[in-house]
Amino acid sequence: MERPKGEMLELGLPSGTIIGKEVWRYREVASTNDELKELASSGAPEGCCVVADSQTKGKGRLGRTWVSPPDVGLYLSCLVKPSLPPESLSLFTLLAGGAVAQALGEATGLEVKLKWPNDLLHQEKKLGGVLTELTSHEAGGVSVVMGIGVNINTPPEAFPPEVRPSATSLRQAAGKSFERLTLLKAVLLELDASYAAFRDEGPGPVLDSWRKSASTLGRRVRVELSGETVEGHALGLTETGQLLVRTDQGLEVVVLAGDVVHLKSGSKE
Ligand code: BTN
Repeated sequence: MERPKGEMLELGLPSGTIIGKEVWRYREVASTNDELKELASSGAPEGCCVVADSQTKGKGRLGRTWVSPPDVGLYLSCLVKPSLPPESLSLFTLLAGGAVAQALGEATGLEVKLKWPNDLLHQEKKLGGVLTELTSHEAGGVSVVMGIGVNINTPPEAFPPEVRPSATSLRQAAGKSFERLTLLKAVLLELDASYAAFRDEGPGPVLDSWRKSASTLGRRVRVELSGETVEGHALGLTETGQLLVRTDQGLEVVVLAGDVVHLKSGSKE
């Protein structure tokens, strides 16, 4: 591959590690996902990761912006090259979410939960998210970039006023700052373990790990379905990671993508 413009980080990860086998650190990029997609197109190996101190065009899901001020967040992207049918690829959003929730929970002692499909929450406020992007290659095969953003020491005033009430950071939640490199290492170790389990055993461990930290399952939700809004009860996940909802009209629907709102139980709001 073309030599990345970042510096290679030595994190002392165990030999045999796939995710994190190469970690390139940049001071500033537009988006770590875009940077890694470029490296992937020039031959970056599976497991290659890009981490940046800040992003000028951090991307969120559904075309949103991911606020990425310098030196306070985790902005990380990791490359995998699975041989899988395309319908399994959304599993990587769940794989990343489950691994990051587990790693952050253990490293900080905070409760970190997941809102389907990709939000990391602490007490229902958004702490981070996952943006998975897929590239299909002409020669066959796919590259999947798992992009992970976590508000680590982000001060509340860094968030735009409209998201401030629903956003949080690990520092805000715990009342103390965290070392970004320590958390990066914890996240990479957990991602690697989850990916190894996925390669050995298929989707089962990914779904189990996601369920373990899920806040969405078993509760009332509002979901946008191709322009229509439905409310109902989140029943569970399908084998490929989609959300199964029983609507108030008694229909069972499979939600492929979109925004889920957690409602208070019994709420008809
Ligand atoms: C979301 O919740 O909408 C997903 C946010 C994902 C943000 C991360 S930060 C690192 C990576 N690079 C990006 O441009 N986006 C992801």
